[in-house]
Amino acid sequence: MKVVFDRELIKKYDKPGPRYTSYPPATEFTEEVGPEDYKVKLLESNERKTPLSLYFHIPFCESGCYYCGCNIIISHRKGIERPYLERVYREMNMLSQIVDTSRPVEQLHWGGGTPNYLTEEEIEEFMAKIRENFKFSDDAEISIEIDPRYATDSQLETIKRVGFNRISMGLQDLDEKVQRAVNRIQPYSLMKDTMEKLRDLGFESINIDLIYGLPFQSRESFRRTVQKVIELSPDRVAVYSFAYVPWVKPIQKHIDPSTLPSPEEKLSILEMVIEEFQSAGYVYIGMDHFAKPEDELAKAQREGKLWRNFQGYTTRKGVELLGIGATSIGMLYDAYFQNYKTLREYNEAVDSGTLPTMRGYILNEDDLIRREVIMDIMCNLGVSFERIDKLFGIKFEDYFEKELEDLKEIQEDGLVEIKDRRINILPVGRLLIRNVAMVFDAHLRNKKDLKFSRTI
Ligand SMILES: C[S@@+](CC[C@H](N)C(=O)[O-])C[C@H]1O[C@@H](n2cnc3c(N)ncnc32)[C@H](O)[C@@H]1O
Repeated sequence: MKVVFDRELIKKYDKPGPRYTSYPPATEFTEEVGPEDYKVKLLESNERKTPLSLYFHIPFCESGCYYCGCNIIISHRKGIERPYLERVYREMNMLSQIVDTSRPVEQLHWGGGTPNYLTEEEIEEFMAKIRENFKFSDDAEISIEIDPRYATDSQLETIKRVGFNRISMGLQDLDEKVQRAVNRIQPYSLMKDTMEKLRDLGFESINIDLIYGLPFQSRESFRRTVQKVIELSPDRVAVYSFAYVPWVKPIQKHIDPSTLPSPEEKLSILEMVIEEFQSAGYVYIGMDHFAKPEDELAKAQREGKLWRNFQGYTTRKGVELLGIGATSIGMLYDAYFQNYKTLREYNEAVDSGTLPTMRGYILNEDDLIRREVIMDIMCNLGVSFERIDKLFGIKFEDYFEKELEDLKEIQEDGLVEIKDRRINILPVGRLLIRNVAMVFDAHLRNKKDLKFSRTI
Protein backbone atom coordinates (compact mmCIF):
# COMPACT_ATOMS: atom_id res chain seq x y z
CA MET A 1 0.00 0.00 0.00
CA LYS A 2 1.54 3.29 -1.14
CA VAL A 3 1.46 6.38 1.01
CA VAL A 4 -0.66 9.35 -0.05
CA PHE A 5 0.80 12.72 0.87
CA ASP A 6 -2.04 15.10 1.79
CA ARG A 7 -0.47 18.43 2.70
CA GLU A 8 -3.61 19.93 4.26
CA LEU A 9 -4.26 16.95 6.51
CA ILE A 10 -0.59 16.76 7.49
CA LYS A 11 -0.76 20.41 8.57
CA LYS A 12 -4.01 19.85 10.41
CA TYR A 13 -2.60 16.94 12.41
CA ASP A 14 0.89 18.37 12.96
CA LYS A 15 1.08 18.43 16.74
CA PRO A 16 3.54 17.11 19.33
CA GLY A 17 3.30 13.40 20.05
CA PRO A 18 5.34 10.41 21.20
CA ARG A 19 7.18 8.25 18.66
CA TYR A 20 5.96 5.13 20.46
CA THR A 21 9.24 3.24 20.52
CA SER A 22 7.57 2.11 23.74
CA TYR A 23 4.15 2.46 25.33
CA PRO A 24 4.00 4.20 27.72
CA PRO A 25 6.79 6.42 26.34
CA ALA A 26 10.02 7.06 28.24
CA THR A 27 8.64 10.38 29.53
CA GLU A 28 6.54 8.26 31.94
CA PHE A 29 9.60 6.55 33.47
CA THR A 30 10.10 7.26 37.15
CA GLU A 31 13.02 7.13 39.54
CA GLU A 32 10.82 5.21 41.97
CA VAL A 33 11.60 2.18 39.85
CA GLY A 34 15.20 1.05 40.36
CA PRO A 35 17.70 -1.84 40.40
CA GLU A 36 15.72 -3.98 42.87
CA ASP A 37 12.64 -3.88 40.64
CA TYR A 38 14.81 -4.75 37.66
CA LYS A 39 16.09 -7.82 39.47
CA VAL A 40 12.56 -8.97 40.34
CA LYS A 41 11.36 -8.45 36.79
CA LEU A 42 14.39 -10.23 35.32
CA LEU A 43 13.68 -13.26 37.50
CA GLU A 44 10.04 -13.22 36.36
CA SER A 45 11.18 -13.07 32.76
CA ASN A 46 13.24 -16.23 33.33
CA GLU A 47 9.96 -18.03 34.06
CA ARG A 48 8.67 -17.00 30.63
CA LYS A 49 11.82 -18.46 29.02
CA THR A 50 11.52 -15.84 26.26
CA PRO A 51 14.45 -15.28 23.88
CA LEU A 52 16.67 -12.29 24.54
CA SER A 53 17.73 -9.19 22.67
CA LEU A 54 20.84 -7.34 23.85
CA TYR A 55 21.57 -3.65 23.30
CA PHE A 56 24.98 -2.19 24.09
CA HIS A 57 25.57 1.56 24.05
CA ILE A 58 28.98 2.88 23.03
CA PRO A 59 28.76 6.65 23.46
CA PHE A 60 32.11 7.76 21.97
CA CYS A 61 32.64 9.66 18.70
CA GLU A 62 35.84 10.87 16.99
CA SER A 63 34.29 14.17 15.98
CA GLY A 64 31.11 16.12 16.63
CA CYS A 65 28.34 16.44 14.05
CA TYR A 66 26.51 19.71 14.66
CA TYR A 67 23.04 18.21 14.17
CA CYS A 68 23.64 15.49 16.75
CA GLY A 69 20.83 14.82 19.20
CA CYS A 70 22.30 11.61 20.64
CA ASN A 71 23.95 10.94 23.96
CA ILE A 72 27.63 11.10 22.99
CA ILE A 73 31.15 11.88 24.19
CA ILE A 74 33.52 13.38 21.62
CA SER A 75 37.20 12.55 21.93
CA HIS A 76 40.11 11.88 19.57
CA ARG A 77 42.01 10.58 22.53
CA LYS A 78 41.81 6.83 22.10
CA GLY A 79 41.89 5.04 25.41
CA ILE A 80 38.95 6.72 27.14
CA GLU A 81 36.79 3.79 26.05
CA ARG A 82 38.87 1.29 28.06
CA PRO A 83 37.55 2.05 31.56
CA TYR A 84 34.04 2.23 30.10
CA LEU A 85 34.33 -1.20 28.49
CA GLU A 86 35.47 -2.65 31.80
CA ARG A 87 32.26 -1.34 33.42
CA VAL A 88 30.13 -2.68 30.59
CA TYR A 89 31.68 -6.13 31.10
CA ARG A 90 30.94 -5.87 34.79
CA GLU A 91 27.31 -4.88 34.20
CA MET A 92 26.93 -7.74 31.73
CA ASN A 93 28.39 -10.09 34.27
CA MET A 94 25.93 -8.91 36.94
CA LEU A 95 23.04 -9.45 34.56
CA SER A 96 24.18 -12.90 33.53
CA GLN A 97 24.06 -13.95 37.21
CA ILE A 98 20.36 -13.07 37.34
CA VAL A 99 19.19 -13.88 33.82
CA ASP A 100 18.85 -17.49 32.76
CA THR A 101 21.57 -17.51 30.13
CA SER A 102 20.24 -20.63 28.45
CA ARG A 103 17.64 -18.29 26.93
CA PRO A 104 18.86 -17.78 23.38
CA VAL A 105 19.94 -14.33 22.19
CA GLU A 106 18.05 -13.63 18.98
CA GLN A 107 19.24 -10.06 18.53
CA LEU A 108 22.31 -8.09 19.43
CA HIS A 109 22.85 -4.43 18.64
CA TRP A 110 25.76 -2.09 19.30
CA GLY A 111 24.55 1.50 19.10
CA GLY A 112 26.03 4.88 19.76
CA GLY A 113 27.71 7.21 19.51
CA THR A 114 29.94 5.33 17.17
CA PRO A 115 30.60 1.67 18.01
CA ASN A 116 33.42 1.52 15.46
CA TYR A 117 35.25 4.00 17.70
CA LEU A 118 36.52 0.81 19.32
CA THR A 119 39.79 -0.66 18.06
CA GLU A 120 39.80 -4.03 16.29
CA GLU A 121 41.25 -5.68 19.41
CA GLU A 122 38.49 -4.15 21.54
CA ILE A 123 35.79 -5.29 19.10
CA GLU A 124 37.16 -8.86 19.27
CA GLU A 125 37.47 -8.81 23.05
CA PHE A 126 34.02 -7.25 23.57
CA MET A 127 32.29 -9.81 21.39
CA ALA A 128 34.20 -12.65 23.07
CA LYS A 129 33.00 -11.40 26.49
CA ILE A 130 29.40 -11.30 25.27
CA ARG A 131 29.72 -14.87 23.98
CA GLU A 132 31.18 -15.94 27.33
CA ASN A 133 28.03 -14.71 29.04
CA PHE A 134 25.26 -15.43 26.53
CA LYS A 135 24.32 -17.99 23.86
CA PHE A 136 23.19 -16.85 20.40
CA SER A 137 20.54 -18.57 18.31
CA ASP A 138 21.73 -19.69 14.86
CA ASP A 139 19.71 -17.06 13.04
CA ALA A 140 20.46 -14.18 15.43
CA GLU A 141 20.43 -10.67 13.98
CA ILE A 142 23.76 -9.17 15.02
CA SER A 143 23.95 -5.50 14.09
CA ILE A 144 26.19 -2.49 14.58
CA GLU A 145 26.08 1.24 13.82
CA ILE A 146 29.18 2.56 12.12
CA ASP A 147 30.52 5.88 10.96
CA PRO A 148 32.04 5.04 7.54
CA ARG A 149 34.47 7.98 7.76
CA TYR A 150 36.41 6.10 10.42
CA ALA A 151 35.89 2.51 9.28
CA THR A 152 38.95 0.90 7.69
CA ASP A 153 38.70 -2.21 5.48
CA SER A 154 40.48 -4.20 8.13
CA GLN A 155 38.07 -3.00 10.83
CA LEU A 156 35.07 -3.97 8.68
CA GLU A 157 36.62 -7.41 8.19
CA THR A 158 36.96 -7.75 11.96
CA ILE A 159 33.35 -6.66 12.46
CA LYS A 160 32.23 -9.39 10.03
CA ARG A 161 34.55 -12.01 11.47
CA VAL A 162 33.30 -11.61 15.04
CA GLY A 163 29.76 -12.32 13.82
CA PHE A 164 27.98 -9.10 12.85
CA ASN A 165 25.61 -9.71 9.94
CA ARG A 166 23.90 -6.29 9.74
CA ILE A 167 25.25 -2.79 9.49
CA SER A 168 23.77 0.68 9.83
CA MET A 169 25.68 3.73 8.57
CA GLY A 170 25.17 7.41 9.14
CA LEU A 171 25.24 9.56 6.00
CA GLN A 172 22.62 12.36 6.49
CA ASP A 173 23.21 14.38 3.28
CA LEU A 174 25.66 14.27 0.36
CA ASP A 175 25.57 17.97 -0.50
CA GLU A 176 28.93 19.61 0.29
CA LYS A 177 27.45 22.84 1.58
CA VAL A 178 25.16 20.95 3.96
CA GLN A 179 28.04 18.70 5.01
CA ARG A 180 30.22 21.71 5.84
CA ALA A 181 27.41 23.34 7.83
CA VAL A 182 26.99 20.22 9.97
CA ASN A 183 30.71 19.46 10.28
CA ARG A 184 30.52 16.10 8.59
CA ILE A 185 32.41 15.75 5.31
CA GLN A 186 31.55 12.42 3.76
CA PRO A 187 31.94 12.14 -0.03
CA TYR A 188 29.89 9.82 -2.24
CA SER A 189 33.06 7.95 -3.27
CA LEU A 190 33.56 6.92 0.37
CA MET A 191 29.98 5.63 0.60
CA LYS A 192 30.36 3.72 -2.67
CA ASP A 193 33.62 2.07 -1.59
CA THR A 194 32.20 1.20 1.84
CA MET A 195 29.05 -0.29 0.30
CA GLU A 196 31.12 -2.43 -2.07
CA LYS A 197 33.29 -3.64 0.78
CA LEU A 198 30.25 -4.50 2.93
CA ARG A 199 28.60 -6.39 0.07
CA ASP A 200 31.84 -8.30 -0.63
CA LEU A 201 32.04 -9.24 3.02
CA GLY A 202 28.49 -10.63 2.79
CA PHE A 203 26.52 -8.49 5.25
CA GLU A 204 22.86 -9.55 5.08
CA SER A 205 21.27 -6.16 5.59
CA ILE A 206 22.71 -2.67 5.17
CA ASN A 207 20.95 0.46 6.39
CA ILE A 208 21.73 4.11 5.63
CA ASP A 209 20.57 7.02 7.83
CA LEU A 210 19.60 10.36 6.31
CA ILE A 211 18.22 13.52 7.91
CA TYR A 212 15.88 16.03 6.29
CA GLY A 213 15.54 19.59 7.55
CA LEU A 214 19.31 20.25 7.82
CA PRO A 215 20.86 23.68 7.03
CA PHE A 216 20.83 24.71 3.34
CA GLN A 217 18.79 21.69 2.29
CA SER A 218 16.19 22.19 -0.39
CA ARG A 219 13.83 19.79 -2.11
CA GLU A 220 16.07 19.67 -5.19
CA SER A 221 19.40 19.45 -3.34
CA PHE A 222 18.12 16.63 -1.14
CA ARG A 223 16.60 14.88 -4.18
CA ARG A 224 20.16 14.48 -5.52
CA THR A 225 21.20 12.87 -2.22
CA VAL A 226 18.20 10.53 -2.27
CA GLN A 227 18.88 9.50 -5.88
CA LYS A 228 22.52 8.75 -5.08
CA VAL A 229 21.45 6.71 -2.07
CA ILE A 230 19.05 4.73 -4.27
CA GLU A 231 22.04 3.98 -6.56
CA LEU A 232 23.88 2.60 -3.53
CA SER A 233 20.89 0.28 -3.07
CA PRO A 234 20.82 -0.17 0.75
CA ASP A 235 18.31 -2.73 2.05
CA ARG A 236 16.88 -0.20 4.47
CA VAL A 237 16.88 3.58 4.75
CA ALA A 238 16.00 5.75 7.72
CA VAL A 239 15.11 9.36 6.87
CA TYR A 240 14.82 11.25 10.14
CA SER A 241 13.26 14.65 10.54
CA PHE A 242 15.91 16.98 11.99
CA ALA A 243 15.17 17.53 15.68
CA TYR A 244 16.63 21.00 16.34
CA VAL A 245 16.83 21.43 20.10
CA PRO A 246 19.91 23.61 20.81
CA TRP A 247 18.70 24.29 24.36
CA VAL A 248 19.07 20.57 25.12
CA LYS A 249 21.97 19.79 22.77
CA PRO A 250 24.47 22.69 22.88
CA ILE A 251 26.46 21.29 19.92
CA GLN A 252 23.52 22.33 17.72
CA LYS A 253 24.28 25.98 18.56
CA HIS A 254 26.87 25.79 15.74
CA ILE A 255 23.91 25.73 13.36
CA ASP A 256 22.58 29.09 12.23
CA PRO A 257 18.78 28.78 12.45
CA SER A 258 18.35 31.16 9.49
CA THR A 259 19.91 28.49 7.23
CA LEU A 260 17.30 25.86 8.10
CA PRO A 261 14.55 25.07 5.58
CA SER A 262 11.14 26.52 6.46
CA PRO A 263 8.42 24.15 7.75
CA GLU A 264 6.76 24.45 4.31
CA GLU A 265 10.02 23.48 2.52
CA LYS A 266 10.57 20.65 5.00
CA LEU A 267 7.17 19.20 4.14
CA SER A 268 7.96 19.51 0.49
CA ILE A 269 11.27 17.65 1.05
CA LEU A 270 9.42 14.87 2.86
CA GLU A 271 6.96 14.58 -0.02
CA MET A 272 9.85 14.21 -2.47
CA VAL A 273 11.60 11.62 -0.25
CA ILE A 274 8.50 9.44 -0.20
CA GLU A 275 7.97 9.79 -3.96
CA GLU A 276 11.57 8.93 -4.80
CA PHE A 277 11.90 5.91 -2.53
CA GLN A 278 8.49 4.52 -3.46
CA SER A 279 9.12 4.86 -7.18
CA ALA A 280 12.49 3.13 -6.71
CA GLY A 281 10.55 0.16 -5.26
CA TYR A 282 11.13 0.73 -1.54
CA VAL A 283 8.27 0.05 0.85
CA TYR A 284 7.39 2.76 3.36
CA ILE A 285 7.37 0.89 6.67
CA GLY A 286 6.23 3.79 8.79
CA MET A 287 7.62 6.73 10.74
CA ASP A 288 11.09 7.33 9.24
CA HIS A 289 11.73 3.95 7.65
CA PHE A 290 11.87 2.48 4.16
CA ALA A 291 12.90 -1.05 3.18
CA LYS A 292 13.20 -3.15 0.05
CA PRO A 293 10.13 -5.41 -0.34
CA GLU A 294 12.25 -8.54 0.23
CA ASP A 295 13.80 -7.14 3.42
CA GLU A 296 12.62 -8.77 6.66
CA LEU A 297 11.07 -5.53 7.93
CA ALA A 298 8.77 -5.34 4.91
CA LYS A 299 8.02 -9.07 5.12
CA ALA A 300 7.18 -8.85 8.84
CA GLN A 301 4.86 -5.93 8.17
CA ARG A 302 3.04 -7.86 5.42
CA GLU A 303 2.59 -10.74 7.86
CA GLY A 304 1.39 -8.46 10.68
CA LYS A 305 4.39 -9.40 12.85
CA LEU A 306 6.24 -6.11 13.11
CA TRP A 307 6.88 -4.54 16.53
CA ARG A 308 8.65 -1.51 17.91
CA ASN A 309 11.36 -1.14 20.51
CA PHE A 310 13.85 1.53 21.48
CA GLN A 311 15.85 0.99 18.30
CA GLY A 312 12.79 1.54 16.09
CA TYR A 313 11.04 -1.22 14.12
CA THR A 314 11.94 -4.83 14.80
CA THR A 315 10.95 -8.18 13.33
CA ARG A 316 11.28 -10.03 16.62
CA LYS A 317 8.19 -9.59 18.72
CA GLY A 318 8.19 -11.41 22.04
CA VAL A 319 11.89 -11.16 22.78
CA GLU A 320 12.87 -9.36 25.97
CA LEU A 321 15.48 -6.62 25.65
CA LEU A 322 18.37 -6.04 28.03
CA GLY A 323 19.96 -2.60 27.67
CA ILE A 324 23.60 -2.53 28.75
CA GLY A 325 25.85 0.53 29.07
CA ALA A 326 25.15 4.19 29.88
CA THR A 327 21.65 5.45 28.87
CA SER A 328 20.57 2.02 27.59
CA ILE A 329 16.96 0.97 27.96
CA GLY A 330 15.78 -2.55 28.73
CA MET A 331 12.28 -3.69 27.83
CA LEU A 332 10.83 -6.73 29.57
CA TYR A 333 7.27 -7.92 28.99
CA ASP A 334 5.71 -5.67 31.60
CA ALA A 335 8.50 -3.31 32.66
CA TYR A 336 11.04 -0.88 31.19
CA PHE A 337 14.33 0.15 32.79
CA GLN A 338 16.89 2.80 31.85
CA ASN A 339 20.51 3.09 32.94
CA TYR A 340 22.21 6.27 34.16
CA LYS A 341 23.00 8.64 31.32
CA THR A 342 26.23 10.24 32.50
CA LEU A 343 29.42 8.20 32.60
CA ARG A 344 30.11 9.39 36.12
CA GLU A 345 26.83 8.08 37.56
CA TYR A 346 26.96 4.93 35.45
CA ASN A 347 30.51 4.15 36.57
CA GLU A 348 29.73 4.86 40.23
CA ALA A 349 26.77 2.50 40.24
CA VAL A 350 28.64 -0.32 38.53
CA ASP A 351 31.68 0.17 40.78
CA SER A 352 29.48 -0.16 43.84
CA GLY A 353 28.31 -3.53 42.54
CA THR A 354 24.67 -2.61 41.83
CA LEU A 355 22.83 -2.58 38.52
CA PRO A 356 23.12 0.97 37.11
CA THR A 357 19.34 1.40 36.72
CA MET A 358 18.36 5.07 36.95
CA ARG A 359 14.61 4.86 36.33
CA GLY A 360 11.90 2.70 34.87
CA TYR A 361 8.24 1.90 34.50
CA ILE A 362 6.08 -1.08 35.49
CA LEU A 363 3.14 -1.63 33.14
CA ASN A 364 -0.35 -2.39 34.48
CA GLU A 365 -3.02 -4.42 32.66
CA ASP A 366 -4.47 -1.33 30.97
CA ASP A 367 -0.99 -0.35 29.71
CA LEU A 368 -0.50 -3.86 28.28
CA ILE A 369 -3.80 -3.71 26.38
CA ARG A 370 -3.17 -0.22 25.04
CA ARG A 371 0.40 -1.08 24.07
CA GLU A 372 -0.82 -3.97 21.95
CA VAL A 373 -3.29 -1.68 20.16
CA ILE A 374 -0.80 1.17 19.70
CA MET A 375 1.95 -1.12 18.40
CA ASP A 376 -0.44 -2.73 15.91
CA ILE A 377 -1.32 0.74 14.63
CA MET A 378 2.32 1.84 14.44
CA CYS A 379 3.65 -1.38 12.91
CA ASN A 380 1.00 -3.48 11.26
CA LEU A 381 -1.25 -0.75 9.89
CA GLY A 382 -4.37 -1.84 11.65
CA VAL A 383 -5.92 -3.49 14.66
CA SER A 384 -8.07 -6.58 14.76
CA PHE A 385 -10.62 -6.23 17.57
CA GLU A 386 -10.95 -9.98 17.73
CA ARG A 387 -7.23 -10.48 18.30
CA ILE A 388 -7.22 -7.97 21.18
CA ASP A 389 -10.43 -9.49 22.64
CA LYS A 390 -8.87 -12.95 22.69
CA LEU A 391 -5.54 -11.79 24.03
CA PHE A 392 -6.94 -9.87 26.99
CA GLY A 393 -10.46 -11.24 27.52
CA ILE A 394 -12.20 -7.93 26.76
CA LYS A 395 -14.75 -6.68 24.26
CA PHE A 396 -12.92 -4.05 22.21
CA GLU A 397 -15.99 -1.89 21.51
CA ASP A 398 -16.82 -1.73 25.23
CA TYR A 399 -13.30 -1.24 26.51
CA PHE A 400 -12.52 1.48 23.97
CA GLU A 401 -15.97 3.06 23.71
CA LYS A 402 -14.63 6.57 24.30
CA GLU A 403 -11.62 6.09 22.02
CA LEU A 404 -13.81 4.84 19.15
CA GLU A 405 -15.90 7.97 19.61
CA ASP A 406 -12.74 10.14 19.56
CA LEU A 407 -11.60 8.36 16.41
CA LYS A 408 -14.63 9.63 14.46
CA GLU A 409 -12.98 12.82 13.20
CA ILE A 410 -9.89 10.89 12.13
CA GLN A 411 -12.21 8.45 10.36
CA GLU A 412 -14.10 11.27 8.62
CA ASP A 413 -10.80 12.76 7.47
CA GLY A 414 -10.02 9.43 5.80
CA LEU A 415 -6.98 8.47 7.88
CA VAL A 416 -8.58 5.20 8.96
CA GLU A 417 -11.60 3.03 8.25
CA ILE A 418 -13.36 0.63 10.62
CA LYS A 419 -14.54 -2.50 8.82
CA ASP A 420 -15.33 -6.04 9.96
CA ARG A 421 -14.19 -5.26 13.52
CA ARG A 422 -10.82 -3.90 12.33
CA ILE A 423 -9.26 -0.47 12.25
CA ASN A 424 -7.36 -0.15 8.98
CA ILE A 425 -4.88 2.66 8.37
CA LEU A 426 -5.64 4.16 4.94
CA PRO A 427 -3.01 5.59 2.54
CA VAL A 428 -3.48 9.22 3.74
CA GLY A 429 -3.18 8.04 7.33
CA ARG A 430 0.20 6.38 6.81
CA LEU A 431 2.15 9.55 7.63
CA LEU A 432 -0.11 10.30 10.57
CA ILE A 433 -0.11 6.97 12.39
CA ARG A 434 1.10 8.66 15.56
CA ASN A 435 -2.09 10.71 15.62
CA VAL A 436 -4.16 7.54 15.37
CA ALA A 437 -2.10 5.83 18.08
CA MET A 438 -2.41 8.89 20.35
CA VAL A 439 -6.19 8.32 20.57
CA PHE A 440 -5.48 5.12 22.53
CA ASP A 441 -2.81 6.64 24.79
CA ALA A 442 -4.16 6.96 28.33
CA HIS A 443 -1.07 8.81 29.55
CA LEU A 444 -1.55 11.73 27.15
CA ARG A 445 -4.81 12.75 28.76
CA ASN A 446 -4.55 15.64 31.19
CA LYS A 447 -1.16 16.57 29.76
CA LYS A 448 -1.03 20.14 28.59
CA ASP A 449 2.71 20.59 28.32
CA LEU A 450 3.70 18.08 25.66
CA LYS A 451 7.47 17.70 25.44
CA PHE A 452 7.36 15.55 22.31
CA SER A 453 8.53 16.34 18.80
CA ARG A 454 5.84 17.21 16.24
CA THR A 455 4.18 14.32 14.50
CA ILE A 456 5.82 15.17 11.14
C1 LIG B 1 23.44 7.51 17.08
S1 LIG B 1 23.61 8.03 15.45
C2 LIG B 1 24.80 6.82 14.97
C3 LIG B 1 25.46 7.00 13.63
C4 LIG B 1 26.99 6.92 13.57
N1 LIG B 1 27.57 7.35 14.81
C5 LIG B 1 27.49 7.84 12.48
O1 LIG B 1 27.77 8.98 12.83
O2 LIG B 1 27.57 7.47 11.33
C6 LIG B 1 22.15 7.47 14.68
C7 LIG B 1 21.45 8.41 13.74
O3 LIG B 1 20.63 9.34 14.44
C8 LIG B 1 20.27 10.38 13.55
N2 LIG B 1 20.29 11.67 14.28
C9 LIG B 1 21.23 12.13 15.11
N3 LIG B 1 20.89 13.36 15.58
C10 LIG B 1 19.68 13.67 15.05
C11 LIG B 1 18.80 14.80 15.15
N4 LIG B 1 19.10 15.85 15.92
N5 LIG B 1 17.65 14.77 14.45
C12 LIG B 1 17.33 13.71 13.69
N6 LIG B 1 18.12 12.63 13.54
C13 LIG B 1 19.29 12.59 14.21
C14 LIG B 1 21.32 10.36 12.44
O4 LIG B 1 20.70 10.01 11.22
C15 LIG B 1 22.31 9.30 12.89
O5 LIG B 1 22.88 8.61 11.82
